[in-house]
Amino acid sequence: MMKRRVIIADTLGFCFGVRRALEQVEKAVETLHPGEGRVLTYGPLIHNSTVLRELAEEGVVCVDSVEDVRPDDTVVIRAHGVPGEVKRKLDASGAAVIDGTCPRVLKSERLVAEYDRKGYRVVISGDFSHGEVTAVSSHGKDVLVVDSVEAAASVQPDRPLLLLSQTTFSLKLFEEISDILKEACAREGVPFVRFNTVCPATGSRQKALEKLCGEVDAVLVIGGKSSANTRRLYDSARECMEAVWHIEEASEIREEMVRFPVLGITAGASTPDGIISEVVAEVERLQALEGV
Ligand code: F3S
Repeated sequence: MMKRRVIIADTLGFCFGVRRALEQVEKAVETLHPGEGRVLTYGPLIHNSTVLRELAEEGVVCVDSVEDVRPDDTVVIRAHGVPGEVKRKLDASGAAVIDGTCPRVLKSERLVAEYDRKGYRVVISGDFSHGEVTAVSSHGKDVLVVDSVEAAASVQPDRPLLLLSQTTFSLKLFEEISDILKEACAREGVPFVRFNTVCPATGSRQKALEKLCGEVDAVLVIGGKSSANTRRLYDSARECMEAVWHIEEASEIREEMVRFPVLGITAGASTPDGIISEVVAEVERLQALEGV
């Protein structure tokens, strides 16, 4: 029987910001004394239903409205951050607020506020509905969000323009959008400033995947179905080959996924180490079975 094997991407899984926010929640749960109120997360902490289920089992409550926060609660803000107005309301609610916003997202928020004050038109390359984009946009007036080269081409620069990016956006698309806006600003004679705020964690997972695709016959991408960076990994892998699947946990593995001589495995930035290990173990178990 052909010997099948697995290659795991050099870089995969939890990024530093997600790991930090999760640790903050776990620490808040550990230090909570009985009868002291609840530990809340403002919005789902990460895009991973397994982790969210485990947190719920530990008594962590996910809220999406400041009205649901009581003064004796501890609220952890997720790595994506929250709009400035929500942060102000949380601070005023009397609850203990732990800011889990990733330092890289905080940097984007500061850049938006600074350039907005200077009179710049701020443009963010990103997904309109992404929590981070909503949070970062809230730090300026009339912030424009563009998610494609077509949308970038329709921007009319009528004043100096600042471009930055959702941290989990495609670096390639950010550069394409940047070129279009730079040219438009040059045409109109207005200054153009850009900061590449695509997180290195996103880039390093993408680079590791590119290398992986050159070494394998099929790829399993592990991560939450609503995780933007996991979906991007899936899309990138599909540009290299047909046999690519996006799964959230080991129970979704099917025989057709493990029939290839070499199977590559990667995982999005919100996928815990434990789930990756379970998937690898299940793949190896199935690969060893006769007839699969
Ligand atoms: Fe932060 Fe980058 Fe993760 S911005 S939340 S470390 S993907």
